[in-house]
Amino acid sequence: MLLRDVIRDKKPVDKVPIWFMRQAGRYLPEYRQLRSEFPDFLSFCASPEAACEATLQPMRRFDLDAAIIFSDILVIPAALGQNVEFIKGVGPKLSPLSHPDEAQNLSLTDIQKRLSATPEAIKLTRCKLTQQKTLIGFSGAPWTVLCYMFEGGGSKNFDLARHRMARYPDLAQTVLEKVVAATILYLKAQIQAGADVIKMFDSWAGLCPAWLQQKMIMDPVRHIITSLKQDFPETPVIYFPRGTHADGVRLAKLVGADCVAIDQFVDPNKLQITNDISYQGGLDPMLMLTGGALLASEVEKYLKIFEGKPYIFNMGHGMVPEMPISNVEKTIELVRKLS
Ligand code: CP3
Repeated sequence: MLLRDVIRDKKPVDKVPIWFMRQAGRYLPEYRQLRSEFPDFLSFCASPEAACEATLQPMRRFDLDAAIIFSDILVIPAALGQNVEFIKGVGPKLSPLSHPDEAQNLSLTDIQKRLSATPEAIKLTRCKLTQQKTLIGFSGAPWTVLCYMFEGGGSKNFDLARHRMARYPDLAQTVLEKVVAATILYLKAQIQAGADVIKMFDSWAGLCPAWLQQKMIMDPVRHIITSLKQDFPETPVIYFPRGTHADGVRLAKLVGADCVAIDQFVDPNKLQITNDISYQGGLDPMLMLTGGALLASEVEKYLKIFEGKPYIFNMGHGMVPEMPISNVEKTIELVRKLS
């Protein structure tokens, strides 16, 4: 069965499909080579040909069931007009939203055109993948994107972002609405271009304070998913509420996702696995980084717990640049052997 169908139909599988978050990236020498041809990360993402090539690189090397289109969650703030840069060795840097007037600088004008590189890359990639392979389109979830927009970059706790959102609630609301509108158009364009599945990355969901959860997570994510389903009822959606522990499954069901991606902090032994949602992920990336007997036993553990369930193998978070290619191969071999 295709990876897409496992997510959509929520039926038990005999062969567990597999892919990895950030499977295209700096741990691959061919990625580093391609990346070096571009002066900056966003111009790399803006080239449909380069994005297609980066998407296909891990597919050539490994026996994976899905490709994820190469781009970044921060293309939306950039398309809205915020200044976004990626600094080598530091990460993303944005001109932070720190003043109540700043929503004016964000504009939805021509947003589809400004975000067209990803749908273009999807068209190119879909033609080059066999029908057996699922192509995943994606965006950030609004809360996570707002965290970067208000903080001005990455952070351990996004204190500054949360302070600014609390201090300027009208600004936060306006920015939220713009990000939601842009995300809907962006994801619909990706599906139209050939994405088989959509994933929404809520990497900082675990940092959303309880008083903001309804407004910043539940309502906007549910609104986006409902809107996608109205036009594309057959395209399943994966939601990744990272850092929300056992509550993540409930959240994913509430927003109407077909699949919940779990991180390494969710104890799969304590999950009440039900058949109204499919599951993905969980393996601690540090174990794939380390390899050895513990990696093997943890891979086996996830396969055992989710045996006969709609489950997709993945890690609890993305590949790190130091990931040994041999451990990726070993993990895939193990999953193939054991399921
Ligand atoms: O293979 C894939 O998964 C597709 C491509 C992809 C990238 N970013 C490429 C990338 C995807 C799905 C993302 C999502 C993304 N981007 C998330 C959500 C998932 C997660 O990891 O939690 C987030 C939070 C971002 C924001 C982001 N982009 C950060 C914080 C960084 C810098 C940190 C780092 O790893 O360097 C990026 C840059 C980035 N996005 C790189 C890649 C391959 C590395 C930069 C480079 O190659 O120059």
